[in-house]
Amino acid sequence: MSFKRTLITGGNGNLGRLIADELLALGISVIKFDIPGTEPDTVRDGETIVIGDIRDKTQVRDLFEHHKPDSVVHLASLLSGSSAQNPGAAWEINANASFHLLELAAEFNVQQFFFASTMATYGSDVPDPMPEDTPQWPANLYGATKVAVERAGIFFKQEHNLDFRCLRFPLVFSPFAPAAAVTAFPSHAFKAASDPNYSDTFVFPVAPDVGVSSMLLNDVITGTVKFMLADRADLSQHAYSLHGYFVSAGDVLAEIQRRVPSFKAEFIINETVNELLSGWPNVLIDDAARRDWGWAPEYDFVASADWLMNYFKNTR
Ligand SMILES: NC(=O)c1ccc[n+]([C@@H]2O[C@H](COP(=O)([O-])OP(=O)(O)OC[C@H]3O[C@@H](n4cnc5c(N)ncnc54)[C@H](O)[C@@H]3O)[C@@H](O)[C@H]2O)c1
Repeated sequence: MSFKRTLITGGNGNLGRLIADELLALGISVIKFDIPGTEPDTVRDGETIVIGDIRDKTQVRDLFEHHKPDSVVHLASLLSGSSAQNPGAAWEINANASFHLLELAAEFNVQQFFFASTMATYGSDVPDPMPEDTPQWPANLYGATKVAVERAGIFFKQEHNLDFRCLRFPLVFSPFAPAAAVTAFPSHAFKAASDPNYSDTFVFPVAPDVGVSSMLLNDVITGTVKFMLADRADLSQHAYSLHGYFVSAGDVLAEIQRRVPSFKAEFIINETVNELLSGWPNVLIDDAARRDWGWAPEYDFVASADWLMNYFKNTR
C-alpha cells in the first residue's frame, strides 16, 4: 500500500470522519467531499474539505484534476430511509453519481476504490446463516442502488483493472445513529439507558426474539482500513460480507437492564420494521474476509454495550 491522498466522498459523515481519522494517523492526507451544512468546526493538518454535490459532474471531475487523489473511499449516499422517501434522488446520488465516480477513478488511474455496501443488497427471506454467494435481490431501492454500484465496480475492475473493493456491513450499532432510523433502536436504547434523566418507557418496535446480524461502528472503521491496506493479491473476492454478532431486541433489553435495572421498556410491534428485520439474516457468513485479509471483530455484544454506554456517559 502506498497511498498518499485519499478522496473520501461523504467524508463529513459518520463513517467518513472516523475513517479519515485512521488514514490521517497513518500519514495519508484526505480530501473530504460532502454537501453544504456538513462542514466540520476544525480542519486538521493533512485534511482538505471540499463542499459540493456528488451529482455535479464538473465539480467531481475537478476533485480529481485539482487534488489528484490516489485512492477513493466512496461513502456519499442517501441512506435507506431517505432513499425510500426520495427514490429519484437516491438513484441520482447512489447509483448514477457512483458510476461517474468509478469512470473518473479509472480515467485518473487511482490505485484503489473502496465502496461501502450493505446486507440490504440481499433482500429478505435469505438463508440464515447467509452465504455470500446468495443471490442479491434487494427488497428496497437503497439496496438496489448499492447492488448496482457493486456490479458497476466489478465492471471497472475487470475492464479497466481498477482495484475496486467492497464491504457489506450488517446493522451497525453506533452512537451517531439518526433518531429517525427505525432499525437503529438498539443504539437508541443504549443512549436512552445511559441518560440519568430518561424516565420514559422505551419502545422496541419488534418482537423480543427479533434481531439481525450486527456489529459495532468501531469494527466497521478498523475493518475498513484493514481491508484497504490488504494486499490486492490476497483478495479472492471483489466484495466481502462482515458479521459481528447476533442479538435480539430481548437480548438488548436484558443487557441494558443488567446495567440499569430501573430501565423500563415495552415491545410494541411496528409491522414494517418487524418484517424487515425478521427477513434479514441473523448471521452473515464472513469466512472469506477472515481467511483472505484477517478480518476479526474486536467487539462482541457485551463489549459493544460497554463501549456505547461509556461513550454516551462521557459525551453528555
Ligand atoms: N452506518 C451503517 O449502518 C451502514 C451500513 C451499511 C452501509 N453503510 C454505508 O456507509 C456509507 C456511510 O454511511 P454513514 O453511516 O457514515 O452515513 P452518513 O449519512 O453519515 O454519511 C453519508 C454522507 O454522504 C453525504 N452525502 C449525501 N448526499 C450527498 C451528495 N449529493 N453529495 C455529496 N455527499 C453527499 C452526506 O452528507 C453524509 O455525510 C454510506 O454509503 C452507507 O450506505 C452504512
